[in-house]
Amino acid sequence: FKVTWDAEEAEKGGYDHFMLKEIYEQPRALRDTLKGRISHTRDKVVLDEIKMTAKEIKNIKRIVITACGTAYHAGLVGKYVIEQMVRIPVEVDIASEFRYRDPLIDKETLVVVVSQSGETADTLAALREARRRGARVVAITNVIASSVAREADDIIYTWAGPEISVASTKAYTTQLVAIYLLALFLAQERKTMAAGNIKEILDELKALYSKVQEVLDNDQPIKEFAEKYCRHEDAFFLGRGLDYAVALEGSLKLKEISYIHAEAYAAGELKHGTLALIVENIPVIALATQQSLFEKMVSNIKEVKARDASVIAVAMQGHTEVEKVADQVIYIPKTHPVLAPIITVIPLQLLAYYMAVNRGCDVDKPRNLAKSVTVE
Ligand code: G6P
Repeated sequence: FKVTWDAEEAEKGGYDHFMLKEIYEQPRALRDTLKGRISHTRDKVVLDEIKMTAKEIKNIKRIVITACGTAYHAGLVGKYVIEQMVRIPVEVDIASEFRYRDPLIDKETLVVVVSQSGETADTLAALREARRRGARVVAITNVIASSVAREADDIIYTWAGPEISVASTKAYTTQLVAIYLLALFLAQERKTMAAGNIKEILDELKALYSKVQEVLDNDQPIKEFAEKYCRHEDAFFLGRGLDYAVALEGSLKLKEISYIHAEAYAAGELKHGTLALIVENIPVIALATQQSLFEKMVSNIKEVKARDASVIAVAMQGHTEVEKVADQVIYIPKTHPVLAPIITVIPLQLLAYYMAVNRGCDVDKPRNLAKSVTVE
């Protein structure tokens, strides 16, 4: 008797890498993370795991989100979303900065820590510091009974399932779902949003996983772009508003697994420095999913095209104007602009993955990096 398969191969379920498997698991992970958290009539968020009283919710004056790596990028999306929906000032801080900064935290501050593993040393230390100063801490984590889960006041679990690849994918998109639910919950309790608007976003949230599937089924243009540009040593990601937050995550994905030097810029900042680095053929990934900022992004794309960059744009279906300025366009299905990050990041994950594969990199275990950083 001879064993002709190994356990690791079997766990990959036919995919070449855990990362690809995890990218493709996202529709399921998103659905599981939403399950039971939206009322049957789709007009209310049900977050029984938040034990704050109505008075405590009313008394929140500031929100601070703190995390590391990809979870920090989820927090950046959270700032836009919570400020827009709840009208409370939100600060996002890298946990290793927060913990040593003598942070301004008190009983009226709600601290949200985001951690896939729930074991990141800096994030855990930030949580402890926040509690020591009297803040209530909500944790968003993927691991039941992890250190972060045990020490937080309230826990919103993401139901991504085990994430093996060092580069985080399904944990990020489910963290976004948790953040949207938290924002909508606070908006509902503090009455900062009309019931109709809450329902509209909840309906869209429910429809998201099939839209993510649509993007996954349409990976050919991304594969082609990756093949064409994988030999470059630099790449730029541009975006405005929520697209800027996603650009940062796209750039992190690319650098960590393909070792291509990648930078993300708020597109309006181009003129303040980055434009000096835009040379012929350099790959620029321009995110233009935000309707209110679309024209501004088109102008920024023109600026880099005038320097002969090769631009791949991500835009929402119907915004065909971008075809006139970009070399290639990836269209994502229409959704509420505030929810776009969950869909926009998918092509960027695939792009990083195929770039890395074409460069022969060890996708699941990039050099020098660990899945969970439990020491400083
Ligand atoms: C490491 C991982 C990243 C992750 C970060 C934070 O750097 O490689 O993928 O985003 O840690 O991890 P956490 O478990 O706290 O979300």
